[in-house]
Amino acid sequence: MKEALVSKGPQVEIVNTPIPSLPSPDHILIRVVVTGTNPKDWKLPDLYEQDARTNSGDDIAGIVHTVGANVFEFKPGDRVAAFHEMRTPHGSFAEYAVAWQHTTFHIPSNISFEEAAALPLAAMTSVVGLYDRLGLPQPWSPEVSRDEVTDIPLLIYGASSAVGFYGLQFALRSNMHPLICVAGSAKEYVRGFIDESKGDVVVDYRDGPEATVEGIKRALKGRELKYALDAVSLPESLDNIAEVLSTDGGHVTLVLGHPKKGLKEGQKYSVTMVGDVHNDHRDLGYVYFRYIARGLAEGWFKPQRVEVVPGGLGGVRKALEDLKKGRASGVKYVMRIEETEGLVKGDRHHRLLTHNFTPTPTFNKIQFTTALLLALQATFALTSSAPAPAADLSTAQLEAECGSLHANTYNETALPSDVDPAQIRHCVETPPAPPPRKTPSANATASRAARPSTAAAGAGTAGGAAAGAGARGAGRR
Ligand SMILES: NC(=O)c1ccc[n+]([C@@H]2O[C@H](COP(=O)([O-])OP(=O)(O)OC[C@H]3O[C@@H](n4cnc5c(N)ncnc54)[C@H](OP(=O)(O)O)[C@@H]3O)[C@@H](O)[C@H]2O)c1
Repeated sequence: MKEALVSKGPQVEIVNTPIPSLPSPDHILIRVVVTGTNPKDWKLPDLYEQDARTNSGDDIAGIVHTVGANVFEFKPGDRVAAFHEMRTPHGSFAEYAVAWQHTTFHIPSNISFEEAAALPLAAMTSVVGLYDRLGLPQPWSPEVSRDEVTDIPLLIYGASSAVGFYGLQFALRSNMHPLICVAGSAKEYVRGFIDESKGDVVVDYRDGPEATVEGIKRALKGRELKYALDAVSLPESLDNIAEVLSTDGGHVTLVLGHPKKGLKEGQKYSVTMVGDVHNDHRDLGYVYFRYIARGLAEGWFKPQRVEVVPGGLGGVRKALEDLKKGRASGVKYVMRIEETEGLVKGDRHHRLLTHNFTPTPTFNKIQFTTALLLALQATFALTSSAPAPAADLSTAQLEAECGSLHANTYNETALPSDVDPAQIRHCVETPPAPPPRKTPSANATASRAARPSTAAAGAGTAGGAAAGAGARGAGRR
């Protein structure tokens, strides 16, 4: 598979590498459809030797390919997003990535892969900041009912940043008001989310430090500011916050660790670390990723707006350069992996499987026609003696691509109805079992696997074993 390695600069190198094996029974192997990006993706390789030449991407949106033995919520074919564990191998800048099951969540059908890739790391950072560090009321048990207006001001400094934007939405869900949001070029974007009828405001930091501090004080109307999320965490933002934060236990949580020179006596600070959800805050990550999925499905939680950087993995360098130059303004840079130059073609079923059928009102004609054309194309290629535009992989290639896993065919049903399950490439974690005893269902599987096509001829060799291994896989699910 293709993988992008990031070095100081950022320099990005695209290499061929084996598909990863599952690091643990609690891991999921995901075929990445879209990768997101974060400032740390260039910062860590820039700053630390150990992070040089690594696949530093952590935001995954894709399709479950293989699950570990302890995974109970996901199965191959599921559309998922995940937060890859930072500074570990097999991140999102690749065709396949791994993630822990507790930091993986289902993508609701109203959310595209592009949107989903904008969520995991930044949204979870805001969760750790608001609910662990600041200890704000949980969204499911706000201080007062939703009909009432709370009087707990919260300052979100950098509300148009990815972390600030998600923090803003969670704070709304926790019924925190007034929300005092500091933003600049993207301030109108932020204004579209706040509730000005409840005292929420946007303050423009570009007017300078004095005007920013004045704007925050005006919004406070004499109330004490006890809570602040500093999603910028530069000396300038902290200095401004120090001017408005209560000196009677006011608490600011930062997203970067640096000398806290500006703070005054009686003001507290903490440093938010999203990596906690892969350490001692696993349950927080587990609960909130599922809550995010619910919020997305119900519509009260929105993905950040996205900009698709062209070229797939070839776009990683530009995305990271733009992040480094501070060009991202209320936007998340994402890349579609299938746009990567030189990908092994021959997985038309993957393209069918990953095609994003968002159920919009216009689905009926346009998307149905697209689906039909794709299905016809696949059917034609399977049955025609003419060379298929994108031939399926041979068994040898498939096994090579599966690395230490085993080539198999996919015999589950969580697929679009126009896709023959027997033709789906699949790698399984366990060794193939001996051929099963002949039962009606085993016969059916075998006859599907024996269909005349390049793929069937290739994968069909593994077909007998596939039936057994597939059945075990089904048991696990
Ligand atoms: N500790 C952790 O676990 C953790 C996790 C995630 C991120 N981070 C860090 O948190 C920071 C934010 O990350 P991100 O992904 O949210 O960044 P981002 O989306 O790329 O941030 C860009 C946004 O920052 C805003 N901004 C820039 N300077 C500002 C200022 N002086 N005052 C107010 N807003 C300002 C810009 O606002 P306008 O466009 O409106 O002008 C822009 O929308 C980064 O330093 C990142 O490394 C830390």
